Amino acid sequence: MNEQVVAIKKRLSLPLFSAPMFLVSGPDMVIEACKAGIIGSFPTLNARPLDMLDEWMNSIMQSLEKAEETNPGRIAPWAANLIVHRSNSRFKQDLDLVVKYRVPIVISALGSPRSVVDEIHGYGGLVFSDVSSVNFARKAADAGADGLVLIAAGAGGHTGQMTAMSFVPAVREFFDGPIVLGGGIIDGRGVRAAEVLGADFAYMGTRFIATEESMASGAYKDMLVQSNVNDIILSPYFTGINANYLLPSIRQAGVDPSLLHKANPEIGFDKQESDRKVWRDIWSAGQGVGSIKRVQPIAELVAELKAEYRAACETPAYV
Ligand SMILES: Cc1cc2nc3c(=O)[nH]c(=O)nc-3n(C[C@H](O)[C@H](O)[C@H](O)COP(=O)(O)O)c2cc1C
Repeated sequence: MNEQVVAIKKRLSLPLFSAPMFLVSGPDMVIEACKAGIIGSFPTLNARPLDMLDEWMNSIMQSLEKAEETNPGRIAPWAANLIVHRSNSRFKQDLDLVVKYRVPIVISALGSPRSVVDEIHGYGGLVFSDVSSVNFARKAADAGADGLVLIAAGAGGHTGQMTAMSFVPAVREFFDGPIVLGGGIIDGRGVRAAEVLGADFAYMGTRFIATEESMASGAYKDMLVQSNVNDIILSPYFTGINANYLLPSIRQAGVDPSLLHKANPEIGFDKQESDRKVWRDIWSAGQGVGSIKRVQPIAELVAELKAEYRAACETPAYV
């Protein structure tokens, strides 16, 4: 196993990231996830204004250092998600804070990680690049990413189109660094399945929206509990890129579902203010949503995931 993976896994109770989610993941989520032994993450743009990002990072660092005193060696590293697309007007300031706090893992998204690799490596951090296709995975690896986050079909947020079954082996042909697999993973069996496929970690977003520590509204969490896969719709309408949404939230916002098959030129992820409104009112979830039965604290969720993971690791039926 890759030595970076070994070093990270030693501190985990489960090979899992709580994935970064716009307007959903904040410091409480990161702290509770890391204390439970999984990698907690958040998008830097969730902290507004910029001063708040400084406060969040400071609070995460202090809480995790304190937790480390009582549970040495068992607190997971944390991660910040940095949008590297040219439309991110805060890119430079956010990167400066990432460097100031020496964030252990940076998850770069919506572009090549090349622009951040040197600075993150400068203080000993790792860059994991979020990619949705084999071509993007190859480009990110060539650009110096330490790890790749493969977003397969069925994911909440901007999803990939490729089945996980084919995505992981296709990338393993040319990349032997850490691979994180996401897209529709909803329980501990799914975490184990990611490992069986050849990934080192699983990446779970949707399931963590319905936790007490997430910043999602109560109505959004309730809708997750009530929804199943029939309520999920894939559409490029709101951002120009295919993402999975909860159809009841689209109806609730008064958007005509017959418009959803193509992109709306008025809005998009590169138009940051409209993007914020979209994600506030139109709620996203992945295809695993039907397995969410209640809102719960992260510590309880991780304990459940661990039990499911262990059950899935039992002796094989065929030898
Ligand atoms: C509400 C929501 C917001 C998201 N926002 C971001 C984001 O800001 N940056 C990012 O890299 N990924 C974002 N994602 C994608 C997740 O990080 C992750 O890839 C995805 O949730 C994994 O699939 P799953 O939801 O089926 O577990 C978002 C996903 C959701 C559901």
